[in-house]
Amino acid sequence: MGLGSLLERRTAGTPLDLFGAIDDLKRRKNAVILAHYYQDPDIQDVADVLGDSLALARAAKKTAADVIVFCGVHFMAETAKILNPDRQVLIPDPAAGCSLADDCPGPAFEAFRKAHPDHYAVTYINCTAEVKAQSDVICTSSNAESIIRQIPSNRPILFSPDRNLGRYLIRKTGRPMLLWDGSCIVHEAFSLQKIRGLKSAHPGAKLLAHPECEEPVLALADYIGSTTGILKYVSTHADRSFIVATETHIIHQMKKACPDKEFIAAPSAADCNCNLCPHMALNTLEKVYLCLRDGRPEIVMDEGLRLRALNPLERMLEMSPAAVPATAAAA
Ligand code: 13P
Ligand code: SF4
Repeated sequence: MGLGSLLERRTAGTPLDLFGAIDDLKRRKNAVILAHYYQDPDIQDVADVLGDSLALARAAKKTAADVIVFCGVHFMAETAKILNPDRQVLIPDPAAGCSLADDCPGPAFEAFRKAHPDHYAVTYINCTAEVKAQSDVICTSSNAESIIRQIPSNRPILFSPDRNLGRYLIRKTGRPMLLWDGSCIVHEAFSLQKIRGLKSAHPGAKLLAHPECEEPVLALADYIGSTTGILKYVSTHADRSFIVATETHIIHQMKKACPDKEFIAAPSAADCNCNLCPHMALNTLEKVYLCLRDGRPEIVMDEGLRLRALNPLERMLEMSPAAVPATAAAA
């Protein structure tokens, strides 16, 4: 049965209990569901592990499950396959891409590296396996600062593909870096003017921002960090009200952790839902069920490419500070 007929059954008044069906399939197939905080709340609620890019990569590497259902975007599921090739890695919708990965095609990155042969290439995990394979080390928003600080100071650095994260890291570390000109369509859409308006309307609210946001938004932020960092901030600080400048679905976990606090999604410039990632939104609960049931779509990779992409990922894990535990989900 395809997605269309599943939806027909639901609208015909015989709803399939997708939550129960997914739990049942997970048990029968010895599968684990890993999900990013930007996924739809229903998907977050069926996940076994929730996390940021680093925590999910770590969880994918260590899982003993036979099947990994990766609820995130393609580069994240591909990373899981690179780190744990003996598991079957499924992605509910393989078209779930990322503007940062799209902004940095493999051949153009190869030319960038060739033009700067003496540079050390630090590459954000939001990129394809082809780009990872040509990098010296991968980083995420959780470990980028620490990794850059470990690179010998006489070595020039190329940072790709997020120019906003790159500029933020230059400011943080004082380390000059040559930046690739890519960006995230979600984080660059926030309206500075509307955020200023929200700050005046809620003077006690703290502005929390992901470092993929543009510089003027970051300049207003009270805290800048990865999705895990932002989540940790709301539960460990006494403040009661927060303006959240990252993808809005993360507020689902914030409300679970701190039901008495107030969370306001930072608005985008356009009158639309541009603070929702359209790529993450391609995954739905129905597609999670179908991919578990059918064992596809599956991430399949050329072994040579996988091994080349593995080196810089393993270097990242070696250079990363101790793990912030991923959220055990479905509380
Ligand atoms: P995190 O690693 O902070 O979860 O970021 C992932 C991402 O895609 C941000 O847009
Ligand atoms: Fe990529 Fe931005 Fe979506 Fe994150 S929010 S997956 S960086 S497009």
